[in-house]
Amino acid sequence: MDDLRKKYLDAIAGAMDESTLEYVRVSAIGKKGEVALKMRELGKMTPEERQTAGPALNALKNEINSALMAKKEGLADAALNERLQTEWLDVSLPGRKRPAGTIHPISQVTEEVTAIFADMGFSVAEGPQIESDWFNFDALNIPPEHPARQEHDTFFMSLPEGADRAPHVLRTHTSPVQIRAMSEQGAPIRVIAPGRVYRCDYDQTHTPMFHQIEGLAIDKDISMANLKWVLEEFVRSFFEVDNVELRFRASHFPFTEPSAEVDIRCSWKDGTLKVGEGDDWLEILGSGMVHPKVLAAAGVDPEEWQGFAFGLGIDRIAMLKYGIPDLRAFFDSDLRWLRHYGFASLDQPNLQGGLSR
Ligand code: DAH
Repeated sequence: MDDLRKKYLDAIAGAMDESTLEYVRVSAIGKKGEVALKMRELGKMTPEERQTAGPALNALKNEINSALMAKKEGLADAALNERLQTEWLDVSLPGRKRPAGTIHPISQVTEEVTAIFADMGFSVAEGPQIESDWFNFDALNIPPEHPARQEHDTFFMSLPEGADRAPHVLRTHTSPVQIRAMSEQGAPIRVIAPGRVYRCDYDQTHTPMFHQIEGLAIDKDISMANLKWVLEEFVRSFFEVDNVELRFRASHFPFTEPSAEVDIRCSWKDGTLKVGEGDDWLEILGSGMVHPKVLAAAGVDPEEWQGFAFGLGIDRIAMLKYGIPDLRAFFDSDLRWLRHYGFASLDQPNLQGGLSR
């Protein structure tokens, strides 16, 4: 018994890792281990012998077991200490960067314009991009034979065979939202309607899909003077330049009377566009007093109500404000361009924080 005790306690003390320890456990107190075998011999002993050998063997088994547990704990502690000394983590290191996208200049500028007009009491209205011939043209006082229809370079949807109507169109301007908003909300009304519009045209300042913001203000006594003030206020706020110069040019639109086109003074030095200086003018919007026929088409009584409307090219003013020379690049989805001209997602436009980057 003493030999067994010494043999296994020494083996346990000398074990350097858990697998050696397990091997010692199996050979000592496992089912077929030496101590177990000795216990089996108890059966062959006399009752007197058994009375002393039994408890002694049990005590030995317990002793070996305790030694095993203590050693096991010791080994685990040692392993942990070793790890604590060799491994360490600098929790002050910056995390891995996640690739972050940018806000497209069109989205940014749309938000900026919306914030400025919201401050002047305009809410946002929307309409569909596939529009009926009536909303896009007739209701805006552009009857089928009107020459303005040709100027719009319209994309037509295909017409189902046997259909007894004009084909739908990709809206050529945001003006049909005027009709939809007035039909739904009546007068008085003050809305802007940002969105995509489509025309078959392609060069440095034209793409077949582009963006407009429609403005509409109808009340009892709204005049051209209000229109001029609102637009000047908008341009000053948007470009954040005191010397922005606007030019109101008498013009003609079927849906307004009188009508004015508004240009902004700019220069095109070395392919870079600058606002407020130079000898060039860039047309940014069309405007005027809403034609009585347009009010009537939307169910608003022209004897009682009047007001102004305007249609502003978002892409144009984005090019002007951020010095982007070629409109086509806006829609190329070139990541280098998007990273360069895009905005950080937390760079939210608001009137208090200033609208610039
Ligand atoms: N719809 C016109 C266009 O796309 C722009 C426009 C001009 C809108 C005058 C208006 C307006 O609301 O009054 O060319």
